[in-house]
Amino acid sequence: MAMLDKHKILETNATLLLVFSFLVVSIGGIVQLVPLFYLENTIEEVEGMRPYTPLELAGREVYLREGCYVCHSQMIRPMRDEVERYGHYSLAAESKWDHPFQWGSKRTGPDLARVGGRYSDDWHVQHFRNPQSVVPESVMPKYSYLERTLIDGRYIGDLMSTMAIVGVPYTEDMIANAQTDFLNQANPDSDFDGLLERYGEDSVNVRNFDTAPGVSEADALIAYMQMLGTLVDFSTFTPDASR
Ligand code: HEC
Repeated sequence: MAMLDKHKILETNATLLLVFSFLVVSIGGIVQLVPLFYLENTIEEVEGMRPYTPLELAGREVYLREGCYVCHSQMIRPMRDEVERYGHYSLAAESKWDHPFQWGSKRTGPDLARVGGRYSDDWHVQHFRNPQSVVPESVMPKYSYLERTLIDGRYIGDLMSTMAIVGVPYTEDMIANAQTDFLNQANPDSDFDGLLERYGEDSVNVRNFDTAPGVSEADALIAYMQMLGTLVDFSTFTPDASR
């Protein structure tokens, strides 16, 4: 009872209660935050991560410009229903070079973190042109102008240089060849060896994504869609339990 009696002093004195509440919250905060400063890295390194190719990065810009994040998240939470629907939960490393990240907080449509490879390019072309033609009850808007808007990647090297400033590991070689790589990824008849050498043979799709002549915003967006969540090989991935 003695303890409770003393507590009454706190509960009847607003200033004292404020001071003690502040103390409690501060200690809690310190306990949570301080260890983070002593960890070398809070993001687990995983194999397979690479920066976006110039075409994928351009597609990501379209994604940002069109506000796709308003209806789509890109973060699979480690809960059973999510993992069964979307695949392996998202790792911090998978979005460590995303500026700004696209985790999102609203799911009018499905999560897109692992949409790569789930549908054919053709499906995406149809779906962007007219979502209701493939999913009749869809509330997704039509984006048919993307396939009619041709782009030449003239400025993508500048964006890559900017990304390099904030820590994305684009090399000088990648930046110097940005426009060539951009055009070659959408043209399977091109000499795209350099592109594969710079970004990795196994993880880069070289195709005419929208099948129409020229490189369009749809090509870029589909290139981005088709690589999302495909870089880390989860058949060999084991989480690092020490973190
Ligand atoms: C108004 C909300 C809304 C916006 C904005 C929106 N979507 Fe969707 N999206 C949906 C809904 C709802 C679905 C589920 C029905 C369907 O497949 O159309 C969907 C489905 C998808 C799918 C299929 C996902 C799957 O796993 O089946 C992709 C890919 C997609 N959207 C990409 C995009 C992209 C890229 C943009 C921006 C250019 C975009 N969406 C903008 C609502 C939206």
